Amino acid sequence: MTTNETNRANRANRTNEQPDVGRRAHVRIEGVGKVFQRRGQITEALRDVDLDIAEGEFISLLGPSGCGKSTLLRIIGGLVSNDTGVVTVAGATPETAREAKQFGLVPQAPALLPWHTVAKNVRFLTDLHTSSASAAGSQTVLGSAEIDGLLAAVGLGSFHDALPHELSGGMQQRVSLVRAFALGAPILLMDEPFAALDEITRSDMRYLLLDLWQRSGATVVFVTHSVTEAVILSDRVVVMAPRPGRVVTVEDVSLARPRSPEMEDDPVFHEHVSRLRTHLRESHSA
Ligand SMILES: Nc1ncnc2c1ncn2[C@@H]1O[C@H](COP(=O)(O)OP(=O)(O)OP(=O)(O)O)[C@@H](O)[C@H]1O
Ligand SMILES: [Mg+2]
Repeated sequence: MTTNETNRANRANRTNEQPDVGRRAHVRIEGVGKVFQRRGQITEALRDVDLDIAEGEFISLLGPSGCGKSTLLRIIGGLVSNDTGVVTVAGATPETAREAKQFGLVPQAPALLPWHTVAKNVRFLTDLHTSSASAAGSQTVLGSAEIDGLLAAVGLGSFHDALPHELSGGMQQRVSLVRAFALGAPILLMDEPFAALDEITRSDMRYLLLDLWQRSGATVVFVTHSVTEAVILSDRVVVMAPRPGRVVTVEDVSLARPRSPEMEDDPVFHEHVSRLRTHLRESHSA
């Protein structure tokens, strides 16, 4: 079985289940600290962060501006080095995992190539990755038919030949999501991908993302400022606080899978939201 097939099988078995804490950690973060120095000013971006992320888990990093969410995401992705502690990704260093194309990145802005069509934007990276990924045997890059299926699933079936400037911001971000999943990377790192979208589009995007994630079985680390977004998407929500950036608490979300908009009226959803808001308030005033 490829990694993705195994993950998909895990995902199928996990519908309506809570994360199994005994499962193998896909990403292990132990005692991680990071200090930035800029023009004589020292910022302790992260202090003593411990977190295990299971294979196929959807986990959100939630907290106010400056609490180190993006820094932690970049450390996991091998883009920034930690000063203290250890991070392993499937047993390897983040740099090794990055070189083995274990990560898909979804940034806040869709970052599409303006001269390429929707279809070409999705395929551009998968084409680049195909030879090296299959050589490494680590992941399955999706083929044309599967990519067409994903584009149709996110409502872009008739926009294959459109250029990015002919799409709305929400449509562009859907292309960006499909592109990330099409790469077949086992870990997707998402840094506030829906922050620039209006509330209704943003809500639709959450359920599209969940649908793509359920199909892929990927591990997702998702950064957000939104408490409700974190709860509806995640298996667990990591609450962070600034100065120094640290983990305050980790909340297990007890809503069943698959998630649906109706669950946002569920008292359990509101209990999670209320508890997380209290944690955020307390850590802010501490
Ligand atoms: N390259 C850098 N050089 C210097 N300081 C940095 C650098 N990157 C981040 N920092 C500092 O580290 C702290 C954490 O930044 P980070 O971007 O991780 O926060 P964040 O939680 O993602 O915030 P936001 O929600 O605003 O995106 C901030 O005080 C920031 O100024
Ligand atoms: Mg950030």
